[in-house]
Amino acid sequence: MAVFSSLSINSAFMFLFFIFSFGIDSNGIFQSIGNGKTLVSSGGRFELGFFSPGNSKNRYLGIWYKNIPIQTVVWVANRCDPIPDSSGLLTMNTTGNLVLLYRNESVVWSTSLLKQARKPIAQLLDSGNLVLRDGEDRNSTREIFLWQSFDHPTDTLLPGMKFGWDLRTGLNRRLSAWKTAEDPCLGDFSYAFEIGRHTYHEAYLYKGTEKYYRAGPWNGIGFSGSPELRPNLLFKFDFVDNEDELYYMYSLTNDSIITRIVLNQTTTSRERHTWIESDQNWRLYSSAPRDHCDDYGLCGTNGNCIITENPVCQCLKGFKPKSQEKWNFMDWSEGCVRNTPLNCLDRERNGFEKFAGIKLPAALHSWVNKSMNTKECREKCLSNCSCMAYSNSDIRGQGSGCILWFGDLIDVRKFPLGGQDLYIRMPASELGEKAKQKMRVVILVAIVGAVSGMLLLLGFCIWKRTGFKEEDNNEDQGVGLDQLPLFDLSTIMIATDNFSVSNKLGQGGFGPVYKGKLEDGQEIAVKRLSNCSGQGVNEFKNEVVLISKLQHRNLVKLLGYCIHREEKLLIYEYMPNKSLDFFIFDQMQGMQLNWPKRFQIICGIARGLLYLHQDSRLRIVHRDLKTNNVLLDDEMNPKISDFGMARTFGGDQIEGNTNIIVGTYGYMAPEYAYNGLFSTKSDIFSFGVMVLEIVSGKRSRCLHPQLDGLTLTGHAWKLMNEGREIEMLDSSLRDSHSSSEVLRCIHVGLLCVQQRTADRPNMSSVVVMLGSESVLPQPKKPGYFMETDPPQGCHDSSPSNKFTISVLEAR
Ligand SMILES: *[C@@H]1O[C@H](CO)[C@@H](O)[C@H](O)[C@H]1NC(C)=O
Ligand SMILES: *[C@@H]1O[C@H](CO)[C@@H](O)[C@H](O)[C@H]1NC(C)=O
Ligand SMILES: *[C@@H]1O[C@H](CO)[C@@H](O)[C@H](O)[C@H]1NC(C)=O
Ligand SMILES: *[C@@H]1O[C@H](CO)[C@@H](O)[C@H](O)[C@H]1NC(C)=O
Repeated sequence: MAVFSSLSINSAFMFLFFIFSFGIDSNGIFQSIGNGKTLVSSGGRFELGFFSPGNSKNRYLGIWYKNIPIQTVVWVANRCDPIPDSSGLLTMNTTGNLVLLYRNESVVWSTSLLKQARKPIAQLLDSGNLVLRDGEDRNSTREIFLWQSFDHPTDTLLPGMKFGWDLRTGLNRRLSAWKTAEDPCLGDFSYAFEIGRHTYHEAYLYKGTEKYYRAGPWNGIGFSGSPELRPNLLFKFDFVDNEDELYYMYSLTNDSIITRIVLNQTTTSRERHTWIESDQNWRLYSSAPRDHCDDYGLCGTNGNCIITENPVCQCLKGFKPKSQEKWNFMDWSEGCVRNTPLNCLDRERNGFEKFAGIKLPAALHSWVNKSMNTKECREKCLSNCSCMAYSNSDIRGQGSGCILWFGDLIDVRKFPLGGQDLYIRMPASELGEKAKQKMRVVILVAIVGAVSGMLLLLGFCIWKRTGFKEEDNNEDQGVGLDQLPLFDLSTIMIATDNFSVSNKLGQGGFGPVYKGKLEDGQEIAVKRLSNCSGQGVNEFKNEVVLISKLQHRNLVKLLGYCIHREEKLLIYEYMPNKSLDFFIFDQMQGMQLNWPKRFQIICGIARGLLYLHQDSRLRIVHRDLKTNNVLLDDEMNPKISDFGMARTFGGDQIEGNTNIIVGTYGYMAPEYAYNGLFSTKSDIFSFGVMVLEIVSGKRSRCLHPQLDGLTLTGHAWKLMNEGREIEMLDSSLRDSHSSSEVLRCIHVGLLCVQQRTADRPNMSSVVVMLGSESVLPQPKKPGYFMETDPPQGCHDSSPSNKFTISVLEAR
């Protein structure tokens, strides 16, 4: 319309083109929209009109995407005041307000302008914003809207929309979910910024009036509670916190992306969806809360939620459960109290313990000064007896600004990756303890390094003769043999019926494995190391020492061992469901593992590996990860087994080298297979291969004629580049899968099988990636792209073959 031609548009609004508007025409006659008529934005992205959600007969005035076949409503005017028939009419009244009329008489909804416009004009902008402006009010420097739908969001946050407060007018832009898919009225699930006095402001998800999830303070880069959400190739984030305004906003780096944040009443989560043109569907991109640890205040006061722990709630270091009894029963509501009370008056005897990787506590009793530096911040905290902790308010660069917390700390969690530093005040006695611990760790690492080095060089007997055990009075570094039950050979003979063939479960690289039953009825698996191989002795010792230290629900548990003359036995818990390969590579058995189960298995293996690589006191590289070595318990929980090849790393050693390359074709990382270099990253490679196998039901070491000479990794990469990676999915999973999880697994799998070790994530990143919906880096061409070697052992899919180790090359 001509009235707009003279308006010049600020570059920030370049994307807001409009092709339609309505208002007062030269004759003063209103244009209006009735049922069946719609108003389309200039770029053709959005449409305003009447709609009925689902099977409902009610009519609502709303805005939706014009070009998306699945009707996706992003804004509703009369959310809770439906029009029961088709008589609704949107028009503009004499004061320039938009009015929604029912049967041409009763007002169902209207805008309320504070000042009357001389020449009111209504427009639907291509951003999805319905605006009212004054045609007479021309200003070349900025857009002035008398009213805009972006100021009254419903359940959706679009790019360019402000979420938060206009502190000058008291306008609070908050989101609230639809009650149901057919009723856009306010559900009891909402998302809003809570404004703190003299402190930081936080956005919360609420169920009713109850806080349910906390995004955490803005730290200059992102929200403290979402360390994985960083500015990326798709969006830019903006956070404004000044005297006038407090808001969060995101914008697109590429206009052709269609994305929205929405509150979903059904899942009670805040979700980001992105439109996938090739699927003609929305894809869930991220959601909050992500996990149990995101539940607001789950671990009580001074508790620390650590998602990789079991149970997830721990007391912060220096604190103990207020009620140990309740805590033991996983009732964390009473939280934790200090081991030793603070003696605040004696400043010299106070210090701060640094907690890294933290989601900062809730703002309840806190104070902020954005211009203080870290040193001033610490001083300020020390000088006030009720100050409990401090942190930087902005973590960019060296960190700046100051937040102080008083009293108990609420809703703290520790992230496996990312997060920020929190300094908690401690009495000197607790700090001293810590310092001592630190020293012990250093000594321990040195000894463990020396011990494992020796063990690798010396035989079991030599080790025994040196009497190392006698010197070894620190239980931390005990090789574990004394703590493990030593079984009598006769007991095991009875349990396995003299190692009868009928009890044989399989043949491992260093000997057969038997099923047995102890007198008390407990079922066991017995690994009998053959004595012909000199290696067996080392492996035996290695395995006993290692596994006795490992306690994790995703690692198979060693119950004991037995040495009798030449006989060396390892006694494990018995896994009734065999190994993973038995299921996933078999069409029939594969049915028993639907997608949710498989996803659980992938996550379980990841957690087990994370423990091996990082969380156990020894850094352990397994070196022979494969589906045969993942056993399943009676509930199909995965347990990593067979540590005969495992190596420990002391301290910060990250890579080792070996002349004897052991492992299995198809799973070995290139640098290991070719150069004998092994590291946690070579395990990551094997993990990635397993993930792709679990998703596809195809063995990586087999040639699959339908893959055009590509390996499984090459195939995955090709499909991903073509956006068809979902086609990798095992056909038996078609009914049970969640595409977002499948795509994520394939993506993570590909990242793990990158040719260069530096391109592979570490295990904690993998765990985070699997558990969240954050943006993942783009994978490059993976290792073993083409099939050049002949397939190995493809047809030996005997389910019992679970301890296979192929010694490929000895140089
Ligand atoms: C345009 O807006 C700017 C910023 O608000 C203001 O300073 C200026 O006076 C306005 N110009 C006119 C012509 O209204
Ligand atoms: C935006 O995305 C489209 C489609 O993916 C692409 O063709 C275009 O080049 C991108 N534009 C920019 C500026 O990156
Ligand atoms: C914040 O810290 C700065 C620098 O130390 C100081 O000058 C200022 O007065 C402080 N503001 C408040 C409100 O304490
Ligand atoms: C310590 O901080 C609290 C909370 O801000 C305040 O109420 C109290 O007055 C402060 N005490 C001192 C001695 O500054």
